[in-house]
Amino acid sequence: MTTFWSAWIIIGSLIVIAGSAYLLRMVIVDKMGVEEGKEMPHTFDGIVELNNPLPRWWVIMFAASIVWALGYLAVYGVANFEGLTNWKSANKEFYSLSDVKAANAKSRENGEIIQYLGELDKADAVYGKTFAKYAAMPVEQLMEDSDALKVGQRLFIQNCAQCHGSDARGQRGFPNLTDNDWLYGGSFDKIKETISLGRISTGMMSWKAVLGGDQGVKEVVTYVRSLSGRRVNAKDAAAGKAKFALCAGCHGASGTGNQLLGAPNLTDNIWLYGGSTAAITDSVSNGRAGVMPAWSDILGHDKVHVIAAYVYSLSNKK
Ligand code: HEC
Ligand code: HEC
Repeated sequence: MTTFWSAWIIIGSLIVIAGSAYLLRMVIVDKMGVEEGKEMPHTFDGIVELNNPLPRWWVIMFAASIVWALGYLAVYGVANFEGLTNWKSANKEFYSLSDVKAANAKSRENGEIIQYLGELDKADAVYGKTFAKYAAMPVEQLMEDSDALKVGQRLFIQNCAQCHGSDARGQRGFPNLTDNDWLYGGSFDKIKETISLGRISTGMMSWKAVLGGDQGVKEVVTYVRSLSGRRVNAKDAAAGKAKFALCAGCHGASGTGNQLLGAPNLTDNIWLYGGSTAAITDSVSNGRAGVMPAWSDILGHDKVHVIAAYVYSLSNKK
């Protein structure tokens, strides 16, 4: 935060607290000289006000909350002022996982109290054993263990659902993980590898220029549509088939894809980015580049193992 905004927040907070104290003082000091319980010298529409003091308990609580507010700011800090204790909610203001990890390690060394880190440690102490137990089990055994799969499902919902959906059926650009159609392979080991290391799809560049503009794209798209059994213009499809040689290196000569490259099968009518003419045209003209984040550094091996078993179970029902 810049010094200006930090000062703005600190001064603003202090003004509000001081203002509250001033307000309290104004209402407890009797300035009208009227005896307690008697009428005050003003009326509104015939309504009069009696000079009744504020309840004592209320005044004490109000004063106590002012003291509390000042104490709280002193202990926990406000804006760029870090407080008089070495407490922090978390190591913020870092933009990469490795920076956060380095900062956390340093905080541990310096004995700083990082609340979030403490909570993670506590959770690890309680649940780490469970994950370690599951991590030692082969997938066949985890598939029999409904508790393990439930744990995997919860981890999935917390970490993966925002992209793949809470039912893992995906959405445009984010693959369905329940349909046994895989970009990178559906064996347990491949799924675990995908989750641990992430995937950056490469190679599906924009083909418009290479294909000679809109007409070339149209022909190839027509051919691609024919691969999944649509009725298409035969002339365009034949022209597109000739051009498909450019695509065969990744999608295969017959368009069935290549899991080593993450190149989708174009013949099965399952589409990552949509199967309409417009969507396929967009894929071919403009290219596509999906990114699946790597989780091994975020969640650790044990949790990845359980999630992988859950994902595997979705398309390998017992
Ligand atoms: C930020 C969005 C995002 C999050 C979060 C995410 N994924 Fe993905 N995931 C993707 C994308 C995008 C792809 C496809 C990559 C591509 O197009 O090559 C993918 C691909 C995959 C694949 C490969 C599918 C296949 O057909 O081979 C698996 C398995 C997978 N994700 C599992 C997970 C799991 C488990 C989690 C949670 C730990 C997760 N993903 C979290 C975006 C995400
Ligand atoms: C260098 C490898 C490579 C070549 C060559 C290539 N593609 Fe792709 N293609 C990919 C990859 C990888 C993806 C998946 C992109 C992603 O997951 O984000 C993809 C995705 C697609 C999709 C989207 C599929 C879906 O399910 O939504 C279409 C359509 C497609 N390619 C058509 C073509 C056509 C037509 C050509 C030739 C003009 C071609 N590709 C050439 C690698 C390639």
